[in-house]
Amino acid sequence: MSYEGKAAILSEAGKDAEIVDITIDNPGPNEVLVKLVASGVCHTDLTVKVLNGNGMKFPIVLGHEGAGIVEAVGEGVTHLKPGDPVVIAYRAPCEVCPACRRGDPRHCYAALRPGLRIRRKSDGAYCSQVLRCGTFATRTVVHAKAAIKMPEEMPLEKACLIACGVVTGVGATMNTTKVWPGASVAVVGCGGVGLSVIQGAKIAHAKQIIAVDINDTKLQWARDFGATHTVNAREVGGDPVATVRNLVTDQWPGYEGGVDFAFEATGRMACIEQAVRMVNYNGTAVTIGFPASTDEVTLSVGNIDTGVYWNKVNLTVSHCGDALPSTDFPLLAQLYLQGQLDLDRMVTQEIELGDVEAAFHMMEAGNVIRSVIRY
Ligand SMILES: NC(=O)c1ccc[n+]([C@@H]2O[C@H](COP(=O)([O-])OP(=O)(O)OC[C@H]3O[C@@H](n4cnc5c(N)ncnc54)[C@H](O)[C@@H]3O)[C@@H](O)[C@H]2O)c1
Ligand SMILES: [Zn+2]
Ligand SMILES: [Zn+2]
Repeated sequence: MSYEGKAAILSEAGKDAEIVDITIDNPGPNEVLVKLVASGVCHTDLTVKVLNGNGMKFPIVLGHEGAGIVEAVGEGVTHLKPGDPVVIAYRAPCEVCPACRRGDPRHCYAALRPGLRIRRKSDGAYCSQVLRCGTFATRTVVHAKAAIKMPEEMPLEKACLIACGVVTGVGATMNTTKVWPGASVAVVGCGGVGLSVIQGAKIAHAKQIIAVDINDTKLQWARDFGATHTVNAREVGGDPVATVRNLVTDQWPGYEGGVDFAFEATGRMACIEQAVRMVNYNGTAVTIGFPASTDEVTLSVGNIDTGVYWNKVNLTVSHCGDALPSTDFPLLAQLYLQGQLDLDRMVTQEIELGDVEAAFHMMEAGNVIRSVIRY
């Protein structure tokens, strides 16, 4: 048996996403077929388009921030059944790589993926799925361990945001780093990911949360989500580092301190360099934005105040908030249900599948936190 559906796909480099009919094969062993209820539009989907597929084989089903209802399960799947509400994870640990074998699944080298199950109906061509998900589709097939069961009371049109933007941002403060109560935090880039970093820092009881963006609407939203200070980088000549450092209240005499943690969530190389210069002695700079394969950053090592050596900077990367989806997704759902994590205001607009390109344009214009496709 096979299933029918519709998907937003990239058919070739340089083309816009188009809505096409798809045929979905039965889920294979250890796979599940999910009927999607909602999918957030993350900047990474736009980046995959801008980077002409970023190495993926065309046609490509976009989308990786999805939630839905299990419709069919493959052989060997016992933990899920048709009707279960799930959020789809793009980094479900493989259980066999060196990191998984030594008991560190958050740093799994590879993620579990389904076989090729989605075909373009017009010519039968098998489709790749962005980040093994492909949620800009009415139905998709994912690895069963990548489908994380949600509590029945969790609204899936909000829960979908947990899959990428929210777990990435909150996870960067809980897993990649451990923001401590009383810490000072800077967040460069206040889109869906950066605002989630701000929410994570607030949940961790950071004392100062300094939000940086180039868009005043984003900075207002940053305040709404818990930023204590905002800096428009454009108003300080494009380099917000000195302004951020001056805002830090916990200063040591004779030492121009910075923040304990600086998170870059823009995908702009200049902002990585800025985050590195924002931190205090032994501080941690976290880069989250998605780079192009040619992107490079030049860092000062020897500058006496902010150089990586003298300031003893820890520079790290966050992939999906170093999440363990099977524990972190239910935790984030619980934080939402308890009123500690705001997903409602993260949804700027609900759209239809055919509005994906318009949603990309709005994202580029900086008018949305998240557009959420409702199926
Ligand atoms: N590492 C991961 O696991 C992961 C997960 C999700 C998204 N991402 C990446 O994270 C980045 C952010 O994603 P998003 O969905 O929040 O995007 P977004 O477009 O919603 O937000 C980006 C924000 O950066 C701001 N910005 C742009 N240039 C800036 C500058 N010079 N200084 C300060 N702010 C600036 C924009 O105004 C915008 O508010 C993207 O590159 C995305 O691909 C990475
Ligand atoms: Zn692994
Ligand atoms: Zn994403």
